Amino acid sequence: MKPLKTLLLSLSAGFIFCANAVAENIFNITIDASCATAKVSPTMYGIFFEDINFAADGGLYAELIKNRSFEFPNALQGWKQFGSVEVKDDGPFERNPHYVRISDPGHRHKHSGLENEGFFGIGLKEGEDYRFSVWARTPFGGAAKIRIEFVDPVSDESRQFFCTEHIEIASEEWKKYEITMHSNRTISKAVLRIFLETPEVTTDLEHISLFPTDTWKGRENGLRSDLAQALCDLHPGVFRFPGGCIVEGTDINTRYNWKNSIGPVENRPLNENRWEYTFPHRFFPDYFQSYGLGFYEFFLLSEDIGSEPLPILNCGLACQYQNSDESAHIPTNELQDYIDDALDLIEFANGSTDSKWGAVRAEMGHPEPFNLKYIGIGNEQWGEEYTIRLEKFVSAIRKAHPEIRIVGSAGPNPDGKQFDFLWPEMTRIGVDLVDEHYYRPYEWFLKEGARYDNYSRKGPKVFAGEYACHATGRGYNHFNAAIVEAAFMTGLERNADVVEMATYAPLFAHVEGWQWRPDLIWFDNIKSYRTASFYVQQLYSLYKGEEVLNTTCNGSPLCGKDNQEGMFASAVRDGENIYLKVVNTSDEDKSIDIDFKGLKKRYSVSAEGMVRFLSQELYEDNSIENPERFVPEEMESIKTTKPDGTITIEPHCFTIYKFRISKN
Ligand code: AHR
Repeated sequence: MKPLKTLLLSLSAGFIFCANAVAENIFNITIDASCATAKVSPTMYGIFFEDINFAADGGLYAELIKNRSFEFPNALQGWKQFGSVEVKDDGPFERNPHYVRISDPGHRHKHSGLENEGFFGIGLKEGEDYRFSVWARTPFGGAAKIRIEFVDPVSDESRQFFCTEHIEIASEEWKKYEITMHSNRTISKAVLRIFLETPEVTTDLEHISLFPTDTWKGRENGLRSDLAQALCDLHPGVFRFPGGCIVEGTDINTRYNWKNSIGPVENRPLNENRWEYTFPHRFFPDYFQSYGLGFYEFFLLSEDIGSEPLPILNCGLACQYQNSDESAHIPTNELQDYIDDALDLIEFANGSTDSKWGAVRAEMGHPEPFNLKYIGIGNEQWGEEYTIRLEKFVSAIRKAHPEIRIVGSAGPNPDGKQFDFLWPEMTRIGVDLVDEHYYRPYEWFLKEGARYDNYSRKGPKVFAGEYACHATGRGYNHFNAAIVEAAFMTGLERNADVVEMATYAPLFAHVEGWQWRPDLIWFDNIKSYRTASFYVQQLYSLYKGEEVLNTTCNGSPLCGKDNQEGMFASAVRDGENIYLKVVNTSDEDKSIDIDFKGLKKRYSVSAEGMVRFLSQELYEDNSIENPERFVPEEMESIKTTKPDGTITIEPHCFTIYKFRISKN
């Protein structure tokens, strides 16, 4: 027999490739090129962003100074002060009124000033420039000089500092001053030190900020470029933000309030971050939200990376896990402000520049609309307390914006009492999509390969809004979890007519600052790495296709059923390309044959190559030290193992086979 590639090249309409392969242990996978069972939504594979694990401040948001506005409850948290430093609260920014007054330490051999510790230190890279800025004034007149230094606090060199710059402040009015600083070394735990060099001239400092100039797309108030690039490389179809439980808040006052996250950064009020204290065993008493990365920046990022923005808004409920008492929530007859938040957000994103909120967007630099199409109401809510509130939102949004697709919640679990209550309720209320969450062990993902096969095609679509394999006893990133996710995702793909979007969660984690794992992308102050799960998500995005092709093994979907020995498969078509995804989750080699049927007359299929993601180091993953230990392998041809074209798939392997249909 000819090898696979030659054979495929010689295939013509109506022929079945390897139809004679009937050996018992061979999985005969048949792709019906004439039978598209569903369209794949462009939003199908996306990203879920939440400020958990220091994902925003200290992570994607490139600001390097912690507590830059002195608004933490302890105004000098993150700072060390020396000499004479006083915290004042009548500053120029109404919603962030605190600032520091630095004055004479009282002796010519003493010094007054401040030192910032950054987020687990300040990460600086050799050869890179940093934009230092500060709002300042000399309240009693005179010209002051401040000295700004990059310091290695544990240096045993003769000098601790390795970069020094000066700024002159000679105005009694508040003004913004800015300089560029250059780092001549790579260091992950530097500190920033500021000295008042003219002690006789009292000086006030506010909103002290340091950004790399090399942010994503070079933006001021920008994003860390390696982390934003990783998002871009995922080619996400949808971008869900800002969470997660952070939407709800531990109490209603600490919910995410999008209106506080826009406008000049100096005046965006600080919010607690609920992940500071949610897990006492991973406690971070210095975790707050500066909102420097706010809704405007989220919309901009969506646009930059080509995703549909999907904001999730508070529905008047504080976190239901932490608030069982009805009085913790907004009474149902007092929801109008919250409903207005949703309507105003749609105006902020899409409204004309003559509208109130459209004008705010324009003033921030984006007169064109962001073209928002989706909005989520409530995060992981449940019970009647949710549905009563949701109905009010849905009716107001439908009335004002029938064009917007609304996402409701199926609660925190993918089954059980709340789930069973919520799905029919979502159908009754008429949301467009239902957000399902599943952080589950291997067994669950392997068993749920056919989860969506029997979902109603008439009701709302599914948004698998938070999911990840949390293997029992192995609740950290590892290769096998990624393979199991890949297997499960064949079921999302096969059911693309009901599953409209899916986002792995959470997205980011700082190696020193995490509260929750596994996560998709990890980072320290200098470097980052993409996990095995990242590559699975990326492969699904890259080979998303436009329509699903009916793909069977002995007449039924290959979805890990009892007699299918841990094998999963699905296929899509993208123009003339066909991508077949096959996952072997078992511990043994498996053999497959690939058959095509339904080809039009005079058309044939050729094998174009494959991408294989494979390892037997099941409980390991990439790391800061070894970021490319697990990376998918591109191959230009399909590796057959037998002369008849049979393919052997190694254990714990995810492969995408690429084919092209062409006219003979
Ligand atoms: O992704 C972490 C958390 O998991 C989210 O904040 C919440 O929605 C879910 O419980």
